[in-house]
Amino acid sequence: MKLHPTSLTRRGLLLTGAALSAAALASCSSATTQETVAPAQTGPIADRTETSGDTARAHGGPYGAGVYNTRQVADELAWIDENVHPFDGSSKRILITGSTAGAGQLTAAYLLKRRHTVVVHARNEQRAADVRQDLPGIDDVVTGDLLDLDQTRALAQQINSIGAFDVIIHNAGEYGLQDVELLNSNSLSPYLLTALVTPPRQLIYLTSDLHLSGDLKLDEVRSGSGISYGDSKLHMAMIATAAARFWPDRQINAVAPGWIPTRMGFHNGNTSTPDSLRDGYMTQVWLAEGTEPGSDVTGEFLFHQRVEARVNKLVHDTQAQDSLFAAYAEQTGVSFPAANLPPDHKAARREPTA
Ligand SMILES: NC(=O)c1ccc[n+]([C@@H]2O[C@H](COP(=O)([O-])OP(=O)(O)OC[C@H]3O[C@@H](n4cnc5c(N)ncnc54)[C@H](OP(=O)(O)O)[C@@H]3O)[C@@H](O)[C@H]2O)c1
Repeated sequence: MKLHPTSLTRRGLLLTGAALSAAALASCSSATTQETVAPAQTGPIADRTETSGDTARAHGGPYGAGVYNTRQVADELAWIDENVHPFDGSSKRILITGSTAGAGQLTAAYLLKRRHTVVVHARNEQRAADVRQDLPGIDDVVTGDLLDLDQTRALAQQINSIGAFDVIIHNAGEYGLQDVELLNSNSLSPYLLTALVTPPRQLIYLTSDLHLSGDLKLDEVRSGSGISYGDSKLHMAMIATAAARFWPDRQINAVAPGWIPTRMGFHNGNTSTPDSLRDGYMTQVWLAEGTEPGSDVTGEFLFHQRVEARVNKLVHDTQAQDSLFAAYAEQTGVSFPAANLPPDHKAARREPTA
């Protein structure tokens, strides 16, 4: 494949590998502090309840700059619009959850410019209208607030009703909410969507360095009570590795984008972020297109187009995966379709590596 303005190769990684590793470490330790330190008084983004593209545009900000997106994300969306060329391989049908802002919207915009068929997901009708204005080429919008598990179940039905996908990217994520809301949006909802939506050929789950501080929290999952953001991102990675084990004929990975300048990255009043915004969504593009060496990997935790070595040992612990899925089934009443595996499949499980 010929090089495009934003190359899918590891060029950027090779040039800046050491710096990125240091940044990832800094991201992890600093961001862990975000969870425990009181929020700063100011931040660059208005409250989510005010989000509306009309509001943003009325204030002179295309792509919701200063409202639901940061200036950096808005500038990157404009850059994609001007610079990205069509893909010369076969077009894919791709769904991205949480694609009205941030990394999800950037992934959607990039794949759209590459002439893939892209369906986006919005939390409500207002945000659906915003993204239709921002990305006029999208094929469709599905709606549902992942904080509400009934809406998540209805969303699964909507998705199934509009036909099969080649790739689904579970990108949506909340930060800084009360505990049970995080359980619903970041853990139970991606599980429900995985279990209830017709499985595509490829699944990608957005996780975070902060999964390193996460724990299983099985009692909390069973009882529907609080978990932290780190717990939820551990769960997201484990849904990916468990699903990859249950569905060996599909390609399924977890991806950490790095600490990037989206609205979430600027949470708690942060005014700078250490990692590249473009690298934060290009792994998803690289996997979805799947034409470059290494992009056929499965069952892994990836950071910037590479298998990440610093991974919570629970991510690849098959007993822990089974316990989490059993807790999910108890809480939601929905069993993962492949949970009743034959014994010979269980014998092929991967053992914990660290
Ligand atoms: N930014 C970082 O530094 C960072 C670091 C590590 C991991 N991540 C992960 O990367 C992913 C993308 O984050 P981001 O930085 O792009 O954040 P973002 O700019 O805040 O965008 C999050 C997207 O998810 C949607 N969303 C959130 N909660 C939802 C809900 N309950 N129902 C429906 N949609 C919902 C948002 O919709 P609205 O626009 O309506 O809010 C938005 O489209 C997340 O999974 C996040 O945990 C981010």
